[in-house]
Amino acid sequence: MNPVIRGPVYAVVPAAGVGERMKAGIPKQYLTLAGKTLAEHTLGRLLSFSPIDSVIVSVSSQDPWWPTLPVASHRRVSTVAGGKTRAESVRNGVAQALMDGGEEAWVLVHDMARPLVRLSDIQALMEQCDEQGAILALPVVDTIKQSGDDLHIDSTVDRERIWRALTPQLFPAARLYEALSADLDGVTDEASAIERQGGRPRLVAGQSDNIKITVPEDLPLARFYLARQFETGEQ
Ligand code: C5P
Repeated sequence: MNPVIRGPVYAVVPAAGVGERMKAGIPKQYLTLAGKTLAEHTLGRLLSFSPIDSVIVSVSSQDPWWPTLPVASHRRVSTVAGGKTRAESVRNGVAQALMDGGEEAWVLVHDMARPLVRLSDIQALMEQCDEQGAILALPVVDTIKQSGDDLHIDSTVDRERIWRALTPQLFPAARLYEALSADLDGVTDEASAIERQGGRPRLVAGQSDNIKITVPEDLPLARFYLARQFETGEQ
């Protein structure tokens, strides 16, 4: 394993969102995909990756569904309180990782709403990470436009260096906790909190089927990708 990762690795999984854009009536992580909830898919993958010591899930105190899942009582799964924002939910999980694993702990933050993450991608992230941390990301393929306030194009952005940030994102727990203790306004992923502190996390190219379930049409797409992963044995 990567020599920069000296301490234990905890997966921190924010799962306290309501997923309003899914319009499903229940938080999206409890929707089913091929007979299992999204939460069970996501946690099953993280738990089957042996370098991860344990999984810390941020759950809303108003969530009646979580305790009914068998995975909620798995011996390597624990829960912390969710926050008002994703960043707060993550910070609570990172605090727990520091308490359990000490200053040398690392955290691998992964959205509960990304059930199709491949073990080979998690492996690549852990291998290629340096002391600044690393994230899975995808180079953009479309031409990117910068607009003015009036919906007219101001310019075309050079896409050669533009990436879409995915999860997992991997950082030393102490470093991420410090970054998430600053002003979180506009912070939508862990890397952006680290960047605000002058950090330059590494980009690791991931697979495009690691989608975040956000809107209703994402579910049939996830079903297609899952079936394809089964067919090719790439999970
Ligand atoms: O809403 P979005 O798709 O960005 O959420 C990404 C992840 O962050 C989801 O797994 C969601 O449950 C989680 N989240 C959270 N606490 C919040 C908001 C979102 O843990 N307050």
